[in-house]
Amino acid sequence: MNKNSAIGVFDSGIGGLTVLSQLARFMPYEKYIYLGDTARVPYGNKSPETIKRYSADCTEFLLEKDVKMVVAACNTASSIALDTVINTAGDIPVIGMINPAAGAALRATVNRNIGVIGTRATIGSGSYSNSITSLSDKKVNVYTKECPMFVHLVEEGLTNHPAARLLAQDYLSPLIKENIDTLVLGCTHYPVMARLLGELLPGVSLIDSGEHAAVTALRALADRGLLQDEKKEYVTKPDMEFYVTDLPKQFFRLAKDFLGYPVESPVKVDLGSC
Ligand code: DGL
Repeated sequence: MNKNSAIGVFDSGIGGLTVLSQLARFMPYEKYIYLGDTARVPYGNKSPETIKRYSADCTEFLLEKDVKMVVAACNTASSIALDTVINTAGDIPVIGMINPAAGAALRATVNRNIGVIGTRATIGSGSYSNSITSLSDKKVNVYTKECPMFVHLVEEGLTNHPAARLLAQDYLSPLIKENIDTLVLGCTHYPVMARLLGELLPGVSLIDSGEHAAVTALRALADRGLLQDEKKEYVTKPDMEFYVTDLPKQFFRLAKDFLGYPVESPVKVDLGSC
């Protein structure tokens, strides 16, 4: 492992590509290895034991590729299994999604009423509430709401459908009643819905967990002297390798939505038994 090694990124599926796009935005000269556990997605409605086991499998896969950092680009895995990922990774630095977004929410809020949305597992774990509360020395109110249907709306390409608006209104109404001024998008899929969420929550700061995890990753690599040298030429397409545990039909369409440009030649791999 040295500064020329790749940054390893894993997610339960394709959603983590929103995080990869942020990593590449802040660190275009890096090489990336992305693993999407598409055969076992979603993690968001699985038990903690299963999420930990799957996250350990993903981490081991990336370590075999000699990565210099592991990014758990999944809010559910970061909420439930970050310790497992850290223990598995040994001395390789690990970046999770929760603390960077919690810190950003605290910097953004003025009235100290922060909303958090995520999968059932993420919200049920209390990860965001605990992180936001522990990072703040003053009183802060955290209001959480699980939004399990959002993942399906995004995956079906229905974020502009009237049904998406109705569902989002329903999910967000308890948070609106609490007068939140900041909302953490605590799931990889939600940045794809940012426009709709912004329309329904005028004046509310939306915190993209991937963006803040990317900044944290950049700092962690810089602190360790592990950042790739900048190249003279302008990078139009970052160096990325893609691995998936299943290749569903809609993969390429979704991947383009999440990453912003097409994913080429994903390699199908087997992470072992389910
Ligand atoms: N990637 C997951 C997350 O960020 C969403 C999809 C899933 O439930 O696995 O929480």
